[in-house]
Amino acid sequence: MTLNPTVLDVLPADLDVQRLPKHVAVIMDGNGRWAQRQGLPRFMGHRRGVDTLKQLLRCCKDWGIEALTAYAFSTENWGRPMAEVEFLMTLFERVLRRELQEMVDEGVQIHFVGDLQALPNSLQEEINRAMVATQHNTKIKFVVATNYGGRREILQACRAIAHKVQQGELAPEAIDEGVFEHHLYTAGISHPDLLIRTSGEMRVSNFLLWQVAYAEIYVTDILWPDFNRAAFHLALHDYQKRHRRFGKVEPEG
Ligand code: IPE
Ligand code: IPE
Ligand code: MG
Repeated sequence: MTLNPTVLDVLPADLDVQRLPKHVAVIMDGNGRWAQRQGLPRFMGHRRGVDTLKQLLRCCKDWGIEALTAYAFSTENWGRPMAEVEFLMTLFERVLRRELQEMVDEGVQIHFVGDLQALPNSLQEEINRAMVATQHNTKIKFVVATNYGGRREILQACRAIAHKVQQGELAPEAIDEGVFEHHLYTAGISHPDLLIRTSGEMRVSNFLLWQVAYAEIYVTDILWPDFNRAAFHLALHDYQKRHRRFGKVEPEG
């Protein structure tokens, strides 16, 4: 514990600690454009994007946000040039290896969601190592969506449920939202309250299709490598102005 917290550690005074999102999800978009704008190859943007994510995770932890989910690689991203895909896979592996001890020390509990079996074996090993090493940590849940697709997630849940029904382990009438969620990659993880997308695109790109049903959506033109604490502060400020009605009406008065 720090006795003398720096200004950065402290929740900004204009944010209400009672009304913070418990779970923030980010579509980290715009790495390539960030690099291209400075005449750099796209991979430099991905590298910088890792630093941004690290800072955001620290910020969420400092400000008391319980969970952060980051979209690192979609099921559609395999369609990029092979060199970029290979660069990303190697980057994920290197970063995991490099950052694991710090995550252990800082109380981060890391999860990976997605079709992980299709990832390179060496990356799967790092993923397993990191999940096991941090499983008892409680400061913040950090969920990394890797080879993630919302449609694929829903389909594999349907398949698993159908299999149980076929085996006589589950009655069709017993399939409710709770049972369904239990078969998603995100079983046991709360739904995001706030979904942030950088770089201005107004779409969800197959991210957490089931889970964002009632998330507040915030889109900023800032490119992911530039999404710093000040930008996150603005997003939280905007979130706190929202009225989350969940289909109901607000009490009058
Ligand atoms: C997001 O940045 C990172 C991943 C999808 C892995 P992009 O690589 O999509 O950057 P832009 O959208 O091309 O600028
Ligand atoms: C979404 O970004 C996926 C990730 C951030 C990992 P994309 O750059 O792949 O999304 P599109 O292609 O613009 O929809
Ligand atoms: Mg993109």
